[in-house]
Amino acid sequence: MSKLVLGVLGSGKGSNFRAIAEKIQLEELDATVGIVISDVESAGILDIARARKFRAAYVPPGKFTTKLETEVEEKIAKMLQEAGVNLVVLAGFMRVLKGPLIEAFPKRIINIHPSLLPKYPGLEAWKKALDAGEKLTGCTVHYVDEGIDSGEMIAQAEVDIFEDDTPESLHERIQAAEHILYPLVVDWFAKGDEWTYQGDGERVDS
Ligand code: GRF
Repeated sequence: MSKLVLGVLGSGKGSNFRAIAEKIQLEELDATVGIVISDVESAGILDIARARKFRAAYVPPGKFTTKLETEVEEKIAKMLQEAGVNLVVLAGFMRVLKGPLIEAFPKRIINIHPSLLPKYPGLEAWKKALDAGEKLTGCTVHYVDEGIDSGEMIAQAEVDIFEDDTPESLHERIQAAEHILYPLVVDWFAKGDEWTYQGDGERVDS
């Protein structure tokens, strides 16, 4: 199997990307980063990429707020292909993907979401879990389809919700779990060991 080359898409601070990049640079994860792309020029994820000498690019997203213009998606697909990417990792990318990217990378785009999907897709999922009085939440890595956090699940990690949790404290613990789970799942891909969540409790400890 050829070496795993990651194409990372993010819009924010990039802590999940940093967790993955650290494992790569410690040689605990056998992959390379082909390119990091953001739709936000000032995104921290681009700074992290540049500081670690990875190729980083800002791509203006076009006129929509929740998706990319078709031509922009085509352009990103081309950039990823030219960088030799064979796994696209969404790490806080705040736009829904439509046709071109999903067609260019069938079953090779993954995302991490801060809830135990299928519960609480969409924005601020940790808040929704807290407001609903849940005692347990977590994070999910899943394949990306054209819906919102609706693709087939790959792995989950659980996080307890405590009585005195605030949205901030809970979000922080979920992110800590993400930083363990996401590199682990990328490692499964690196080992050619793609794995699909069976839906009956096979979870990863965080
Ligand atoms: C993560 O918490 C992830 O669950 C969500 O976006 C956030 C990105 O955070 N999809 P970061 O940019 O990796 O710090």
